[in-house]
Amino acid sequence: MEKIRWVIEESEKYLANTTRDPESQPLVIDRGEGVWVYDIEGNKYLDFTSGIGVNNLGWPSHPDVIKVAQIQMTRLAHAAANDFYNIPQMELAKRLVQLSPGNFSKKVFFSNSGTESVEASIKLVKGTGRKYLIAFLGSFHGRTLGSLALTASKPVQRYSAGPFSIGVFHVPYPNPFRNPWKINGYEKPDELINAVIEYIDFWLFQHVVDPEEVAGIIFEPIQGEGGYVVPPHNFFAELRKLAQKYNIPLIDDEVQMGLGRTGKMFAIEHFNIEPDIITLAKALGGGLVPVGATIFRSDLDFKKKGIHSNTFGGNALSMSIGLKVVELIKELMPHVNEIGKIFGEELCQMKVDDCRGLGLSLIHI
Ligand SMILES: Cc1ncc(COP(=O)(O)O)c(C=O)c1O
Repeated sequence: MEKIRWVIEESEKYLANTTRDPESQPLVIDRGEGVWVYDIEGNKYLDFTSGIGVNNLGWPSHPDVIKVAQIQMTRLAHAAANDFYNIPQMELAKRLVQLSPGNFSKKVFFSNSGTESVEASIKLVKGTGRKYLIAFLGSFHGRTLGSLALTASKPVQRYSAGPFSIGVFHVPYPNPFRNPWKINGYEKPDELINAVIEYIDFWLFQHVVDPEEVAGIIFEPIQGEGGYVVPPHNFFAELRKLAQKYNIPLIDDEVQMGLGRTGKMFAIEHFNIEPDIITLAKALGGGLVPVGATIFRSDLDFKKKGIHSNTFGGNALSMSIGLKVVELIKELMPHVNEIGKIFGEELCQMKVDDCRGLGLSLIHI
């Protein structure tokens, strides 16, 4: 206990004030193994959070991913991959294009985090010359200034950062359990869907912004930070129709719910629509490296060389890890669905107000 207290005190002295909390989260992590995390005194914890959506293949990572990383590390790690070419980057881009929904030509931009994958998506849609974005209340899309303008999860996350340089209109998410219209979305899903679509199409587009000025609509297929909120099944099909009517690209933020957590590679596959852009991060690095990826319809590509780039994105180490990660996660899908079903049923027996989720992304409140 003494050592734990010492690490926390020294950390608080030298580290920025973020989301660590010495009172509610006094955990000093020493190592991880599978689903278990150990603190520096050997106490063992079952990790229900998968390392905030990063360790989908377990802690510290899957042995095959570690093997790939060890081999790649001794060959080439950094690769200045936006200035030059490397094979792992090309192969992972190709694989993500093949695996992701969207029966059209697609490309990928690699970065190092979820927020960067969202930033790239903002630049891509603004490349159409339109100005504004629509995001949903309760959403979390990151903390850099572009993505933060989209985030509407907790006021503290936006505290002192605004006003923001990108124009965003926030609209209610079709939360079946808690929404402004007090519609029970489990019993009346169509009523809830209509309310949200009407809010955008009538209240927003007739009174606030011309849809011709809207560059994109960003959503989480299931809200993560917002409380694992699963929208009614037909919502995204209706949103797609609305977006099509006004030629607005849809950005599907899969940073948290993508890569197998819901029992499908991409959570949006549960809803049978094809987004124009998909953002990924977290689990793509296998728990070993930070990676972000933005998969997009090819015609949205940056209009000039140099509009967007970075130093570490597409580095050979992260890319070879990502390639192994997607193969392993794909194989795991039947397991996630099987375990998720059992776990979900047990969890719902313990529910007080609501239980919800898909695959192994589950919550009860
Ligand atoms: C849906 C979603 N988008 C974006 C992000 C931001 O990712 P990062 O923390 O890697 O910047 C998160 C992080 O939790 C997220 O859940």
